[in-house]
Amino acid sequence: MPRKLILDVDPGVDDAIAMVFALYHPALEVVAVTSVGGNVPPAVASRNVSGILGFFDPPRWPRVGVASMPDDGLPVEGRYGLSIDCLEAAQLRVAELRNPHPAEKVICEEVRAAPGEVTILALGPLTNIARAFRRDPELPTLVGKVLISGGTVSAAGNVTPAAEFNMYCDPKAAREVFRSASTKVLIPLDVTNRVMLSFDHLNNLPPETTRLGWFLRAILPPAFLSYRQRLGLEGIHIHDCVTLMAAIHPELFEYEDMAGDVETGGELCRGATVFDRRRVPDWQKNIAVARKMDTARLVDYFLEGLERAAWETGPMLPG
Ligand code: RIB
Ligand code: CA
Repeated sequence: MPRKLILDVDPGVDDAIAMVFALYHPALEVVAVTSVGGNVPPAVASRNVSGILGFFDPPRWPRVGVASMPDDGLPVEGRYGLSIDCLEAAQLRVAELRNPHPAEKVICEEVRAAPGEVTILALGPLTNIARAFRRDPELPTLVGKVLISGGTVSAAGNVTPAAEFNMYCDPKAAREVFRSASTKVLIPLDVTNRVMLSFDHLNNLPPETTRLGWFLRAILPPAFLSYRQRLGLEGIHIHDCVTLMAAIHPELFEYEDMAGDVETGGELCRGATVFDRRRVPDWQKNIAVARKMDTARLVDYFLEGLERAAWETGPMLPG
């Protein structure tokens, strides 16, 4: 039976690819897509989600939940490697939602509808998940697990020296989720940094005659350009796609149960993930953290899945 998934996304190129990949993957049933501010402001994230759904028109439409500003606002404009909304390049048409529901409401309802069965795939700041847990205090024990993209254990941060982007954007929400009674799995930069989409991959995308092939050709070139200009890299990271692969192929990762928390203040360390790795720790273990990954197999599965999804998305019709 396909695994029920709520996708919480801030698209964003890697979020967008993960979203389409998940919508067409036979092992997953995406019950809802909720948007959150992060790579782009909340309203743009919601618009991008609607645009992607409208463009692909998947066989089974998920529910949609819209983003609103984190309680303390967003501290950034755009992601560390990207100063632009790459999805603009695809010029997706966006239909206005007649009755938009807040993301946290949709999360609560979908978890309540199938207690213990729903995985929340958190691919952006943890704003919506923390709000859902506040709105329904029993929710942490009803959710199957929260699979989180972000944080670092030993790797450097990617937005500040200490912090990973998703944690940095809303550290209070991240702390609430880390401290909640939910089952949590973290896929940190230490492993997601190991996967890069290179120019070789860019030249071997699924056919342009498919919807996904066309979409990738629209959104990836500006991302590659931005990574080169801002980071001097000849390729792009696809962190959230790696995290999605952990939902589909958990066996590709080795996990360690750790005791983790998130720094909410501080001049230098806002959003840093901190783990009690002392010989005699004081903190309780509260999160499984991916420490090793079979990178070669993950990339193979990802590229195969992308190709299969592309054919499923159907032909790109003119106009
Ligand atoms: O640090 C990686 C994360 O930041 C990913 O979720 C990416 O989409 C950006 O939001
Ligand atoms: Ca993201």
